[in-house]
Amino acid sequence: MSVNVNKKFVSQFVTQHELVYAAPAATAALSLVKSKNGPGSNFLGWVDLPVNYDKEEFARIKAAAARIKSMCDVLVVIGIGGSYLGARAVIEYCKSNNYNALPKDTPEIYFAGNSISASALSDILKMCEGKDICVNVVSKSGTTTEPAIAFRVFRDLIVKKYGEEGAKQRIFATTDKARGTLKTFADREGYETFVVPDDIGGRYSVLTAVGLLPIAVAGIDIDALMAGAAAAREEYMTLPFADNAALQYAALRNILYKRGKGVEILVSYEPAAQMMSEWWKQLYGESEGKDGKGIYPASVVFSTDLHSLGQFIQDGSRTMFETVIDVVSPKDHIAIPDDPEDTDGLNYIAGRELDEINHKAMLGTLLAHVDGGVPNILLETPDRSEDETGRLIYFFELACAVSGYMLGVNPFDQPGVESYKKNMFALLGKKGSEERGAELAARIAEL
Ligand code: PA5
Repeated sequence: MSVNVNKKFVSQFVTQHELVYAAPAATAALSLVKSKNGPGSNFLGWVDLPVNYDKEEFARIKAAAARIKSMCDVLVVIGIGGSYLGARAVIEYCKSNNYNALPKDTPEIYFAGNSISASALSDILKMCEGKDICVNVVSKSGTTTEPAIAFRVFRDLIVKKYGEEGAKQRIFATTDKARGTLKTFADREGYETFVVPDDIGGRYSVLTAVGLLPIAVAGIDIDALMAGAAAAREEYMTLPFADNAALQYAALRNILYKRGKGVEILVSYEPAAQMMSEWWKQLYGESEGKDGKGIYPASVVFSTDLHSLGQFIQDGSRTMFETVIDVVSPKDHIAIPDDPEDTDGLNYIAGRELDEINHKAMLGTLLAHVDGGVPNILLETPDRSEDETGRLIYFFELACAVSGYMLGVNPFDQPGVESYKKNMFALLGKKGSEERGAELAARIAEL
């Protein structure tokens, strides 16, 4: 089994009847995914992706990653939302949140174009100074403003440093297979391109070239990642509700939502999982938050955030439930040293592993939060290997689709993302939106 849903800390908040009624609903939602008969079904390419990916492109990804590793000290990945979160999540989860600072034989990887902050971009430019760089620009539409701005800046830098010919070797574009400004531009300039499949939305794209190229550059075994996802697909697409962790997770969160729990906090005890939580937040937030419905996805890293948000979770408004990722086996081992003087009073745990203490902190917190009225779904995953990471990704993706259908929304569109863009373009005076720009400027002046 890939992920295990441990219901010990949620069972007192959910009746057996509720689970009995939710089981057919979750199974019916899975049938909609399988039959491709639900809303948004033209975006189900991720379902069979782990067994049905483009093997020729997969080999090109590995070859490009090897070239990038041999040519560059730094890979700058330019993209926003689904076009960067998955790659960053997997790199940090499988390697470390300190990946760039740690000694390694793979390039540093920086993520640009995910904000419009001059300081953020300027910092990355500074970190690239004196280093050999490659760029992977990722945009399905090819028109998203944030990455387009960053790409202009980095393309300019690369052309000045290596010339147009050098740029051809060092710029890699991941975009639509045929359409869009980026595809046209990349083909004209002779950059190697990779495909964001038509039937896979940004937030479901981590196991396409979108995620796989940067992930492979980081030295992560993408075969094992895909194999893990394929194994999870086999389980979650076929097992009955009683044995199916993805269906159970989807059902539990829907039951809790109906009971007034409108906020889900994804909890991890590993700082390396912070970006995985960011990826999860986009996956669930963008998939479910629509039509006036949805669970608001939040995240914390414990025990760090027990010292900031712990008070609220224990004792504040009772609107949330927690989903805890328990990574059973740690990557690293540190034992507490003995101190004959015991001035800090820690000798009672001397010789014990940090992981054991982290685990006790988790159990103590689970019990405390349950006592405080916060339901906790515990997701147990064996380790942070590539294989298990692939399984975890597929688990969350499938559960998200099932949960969205149970909620009665289209989990594969994101109509709300356009609103800010329309206003921003109008305020910037983009051609065709001058009238709206004047209207918005007048509204702002009146406030
Ligand atoms: O999930 C999504 O669809 C979004 O987060 C997109 O990935 C994001 O807006 C970036 O879009 P694009 O890849 O077209 O630049």
